[in-house]
Parts: sequence; C-alpha cells; structure tokens
Amino acid sequence: MLNIEDIHTYYGDSYVLQGVSLEVRPRTAVALLGRNGMGKTTLIRSIIGFARPRQGRVLFEGRDITALPSHQIAHLGIGLVPQGRRIFPSLTVLEHLNVAARVDGAAGDRAWTLDRVFALYPRLRERHAHRGSMLSGGEQQMLAIGRALTTNPRLLLMDEPSEGLAPLLVRELGGSIGRLKEAGLSILLVEQNLPMALAIADEVYVLSKGRVVYRGTPAALSADAAVKHRYLGV
Ligand SMILES: Nc1ncnc2c1ncn2[C@@H]1O[C@H](COP(=O)(O)OP(=O)(O)OP(=O)(O)O)[C@@H](O)[C@H]1O
Ligand SMILES: [Mg+2]
Repeated sequence: MLNIEDIHTYYGDSYVLQGVSLEVRPRTAVALLGRNGMGKTTLIRSIIGFARPRQGRVLFEGRDITALPSHQIAHLGIGLVPQGRRIFPSLTVLEHLNVAARVDGAAGDRAWTLDRVFALYPRLRERHAHRGSMLSGGEQQMLAIGRALTTNPRLLLMDEPSEGLAPLLVRELGGSIGRLKEAGLSILLVEQNLPMALAIADEVYVLSKGRVVYRGTPAALSADAAVKHRYLGV
C-alpha cells in the first residue's frame, strides 16, 4: 500500500529524516511512535509532498509519488488528519465536510457520504451547524477525521489525533479508528499515546532522531521495557 524507501528529508541545512524506511500493508494500521521533535510529522509531510525527501522514494500502491504535487497525492487516495486538527474557527461542521468532499470531485462514487461520517460520529450531526470555534477538542478531532474521510482515502495519515484529549475521549477516538480499519482503510497513526497506539496497530515503528530504532508487533514492544524506557520515556 505505502512503501517508504530510505528517505532523507531536510529543512534547509537541518538533516531531519536520516534514512527512514516504513511499510503499511493494505487494511492494516501502523503506529509511528517517538518523542517530541523526532521527525514524525516530517515523515507525514514527506509522504504528502509538503517536505520533499532529498533522497529515497515514497511509493503508494506501487506508484512513485515522491515528486508529485500534494493535491495529486491526495487525489490518488491519501487522506490527512493533521497535527493540531486545523479546524477553521469560522466555518461550520457542515461547511468543513462539504468543502473537503467537493475538492475531491467524483460525486457519484462517494463511499464516505455525509451520512456515513455522521454514523461514525453522531456528535457531528448534532453539531452540524456549529462553527469550528464552538467545538470541544474531541469534536474538533472528529471533524478533522470526518473531513479527511469525505475525500474517500484508501490510506489515512493521522498525526497525533489523541493530543490534548481527556482519557475517556482518547478511548472513544481509538474505537472509531479501529472501526475505520475494519471498514477497509489502511492507517498510518502517529501517536505519543502508547496504550492507544498498541491497541489499534498491527505493527509499530519507533522513530528517534530521524531514524527508525524499532520495528515490531504491539505485543513485542509492549514487552520490551528497555525500548519503551529509552525511546518513549515510559
Ligand atoms: N518547518 C520546519 N523548519 C525547520 N525545522 C523544522 C520544521 N519543522 C520541524 N522542524 C524540526 O525538525 C525536527 C523534527 O520535527 P517534527 O515536527 O517532524 O517532529 P515530531 O516528531 O512530529 O514532534 P512532535 O511530537 O512534537 O509533533 C525538529 O527538530 C523540529 O524542530
Ligand atoms: Mg509532530
């Protein structure tokens, strides 16, 4: 589904991703863990063309997308739930969802209709006329996910969706991400919430200083106190 092959990404002279390879297989969820500033968002940005790798390749369904413009990458079927949610304060819930759906055309072939998004997050239906600024953190996160879904992605990139949410909401969010996987989506989940990531993921990567320092199953990471302590601070 997604194959990242030895990418090296810089911001100016700053050498951030120092040879990262990662694979997401169809209909699986991969969690990407790591402390602040280790390069997780830069990896997401390297996939969607916001930060171009200077070396290495990104393949999506076998196609080299490394040099494609971001909008084209999105059209191919990659959806983004950005870190910090990026909800517009003055747009309503409905406007957020309609704007995203319209951008991606193909109206007849809409797997993720408004109704289906509302079925996943009934709260959004109740709040459909509320502006972004009136939503709670949890509601904003649901909207950020709903907005990404309305573009009908096959691969969903989620950058720290649990950030800043209370434990109960994190559990709800985790449940909904699990349902997306069951619905057939492939997911790359960047997280700092270890329990949530371990509950959802089929495979786990840990990033430290721009390199993959661990790759394994959730069960294996769970049992590896040394790696958890050294790279995740738990
Ligand atoms: N636009 C930018 N220009 C220059 N340096 C940047 C830029 N964005 C991030 N960096 C630097 O690149 C490194 C990796 O940042 P990145 O945002 O990828 O980390 P992260 O793992 O997502 O962290 P967090 O968990 O805090 O979101 C950090 O040292 C950061 O300061
Ligand atoms: Mg980040």
